[in-house]
Amino acid sequence: MNARASFGLGNLLLFLACGCGSDENQAAARPARTDGGAADDGGLDAAPDAAPDLNLLRSPREAEDLDPDPNVVHVRLVAAPATHTIGEQQIPGFAYNGQTPGPTLRAKVGDLLRIDFENQLDEATTIHWHGANVPYAMDGVTWQTNPIEPGATFTYSFKLTHAGTFWYHPHFNSNGQVDRGLYGVLVVEDPAEPAIDDLIVVFDVWGEGDGPSGHVAAGAAMDAGGHEPTPGSAAQPQWTVNGLIGPRAVLRGGSAVRVRLLNVSTRSYLDLRWPRIRQIGSDQGLLPALAEPAAIVLAPGDRAEAEWLLGDQGFDVETAPYSLNGGAAQGPLAKALSVEVTEAAAAATAPDWPFSGRAPTPDRGTTDIVYVFTGDPYTNDWRINGEQFPNVTVEELKLNADAVIEVRNSSPTEHPFHLHGHAFEVLSVDGVAPQMRTFEDTFNVGIRGRVRVRLLADNPGDWMAHCHILDHADHGMMTVLRVLSP
Ligand code: C2O
Ligand code: CU
Repeated sequence: MNARASFGLGNLLLFLACGCGSDENQAAARPARTDGGAADDGGLDAAPDAAPDLNLLRSPREAEDLDPDPNVVHVRLVAAPATHTIGEQQIPGFAYNGQTPGPTLRAKVGDLLRIDFENQLDEATTIHWHGANVPYAMDGVTWQTNPIEPGATFTYSFKLTHAGTFWYHPHFNSNGQVDRGLYGVLVVEDPAEPAIDDLIVVFDVWGEGDGPSGHVAAGAAMDAGGHEPTPGSAAQPQWTVNGLIGPRAVLRGGSAVRVRLLNVSTRSYLDLRWPRIRQIGSDQGLLPALAEPAAIVLAPGDRAEAEWLLGDQGFDVETAPYSLNGGAAQGPLAKALSVEVTEAAAAATAPDWPFSGRAPTPDRGTTDIVYVFTGDPYTNDWRINGEQFPNVTVEELKLNADAVIEVRNSSPTEHPFHLHGHAFEVLSVDGVAPQMRTFEDTFNVGIRGRVRVRLLADNPGDWMAHCHILDHADHGMMTVLRVLSP
């Protein structure tokens, strides 16, 4: 772990005001839990005999860095079966290092990240570094390469070239393996940004993919098939936050927190609301300026960053109903988590983010590649340009091409478009340029929508381009974009 990482979230949290030392060390000394340590506050209560607060929100426990070199982060990850405790239920699944979310990997731009990975599952797997734009051989895909078999090991090793909130997950049987609990967060920090504490908030819905059948999301929230509520139904998916249902984040008044929000669900959307949202980042790090949207929609795979300037008031973070079958809908908001303030104080002042202030690139109007997304939720037949992965036409771009891709959604559901190996700038959504220059790697395309994006093809390889509704991807909605070698 580099020096910055040792800040952790600890000094913000009430229970650490009691002088218990590093939260990472505290967590590491106790047996692994599959909730990522989010509820693991044993011994941290002010009163020694008090029952531990099992619904206290904490960032997922960080991975131990095995390399003393400040520019190298070396971590061991093991994927293995695990039992998840979600609410009252015990759910069989998988985890990295016995915790879900898996260990947070924290590094800075320019660091070498090395992961010694071991597959202790009884099925093959890989790890994909979503958003981090790694060299092709490290991308964790199984296009013309084999996955990592049960009992086998693999070393992932690559340089981190840019800052942002990324995540890692299998890219083999993804819909089942991610849903069973295989995912974790990769934070790449930029030392030029203010080093304030962050809170990592990972949203998931259990039992929505082809994962465990005895799932918490059943009953009120889901139909019998474990899928999204049917269109028009008032039911909403049951969200968990770092493995907890409706947890409390207890934070100190007068502090500023960088909140990193991730939607790792395989098919459910978030439409997040809280009073006076101050959004500072999206998939690929800082926005060019502060945004103050009324809501933040996170499609599966999406991330956003916000700042909380805490004073003397708590608040709830809620999500409005939003379904891939019809976008935003009328209906009650559901509470995702609550923020409680301790040691009320004057509200923190906003950190001085090095916003670039740059305007969006104008769309020059030419198009290099068109992807038409089609499919049918009743047959679960999903295609890009009429083809189903892996039987696809490989589109090619020259190295360093400045290319425009147009994604057209001709289907009756929404699809978050995700590209490997490259970030892209959004040029327009349904013909309208964005208000702000944004770099993304996952971007939702609404029903019958049309999104134009621009990328600099500077990373040679065969890159997956797909829908991040993992059931759609596993049923064919994935293609390959080849960036040629020099
Ligand atoms: Cu997050 Cu190709 O995936
Ligand atoms: Cu899709």
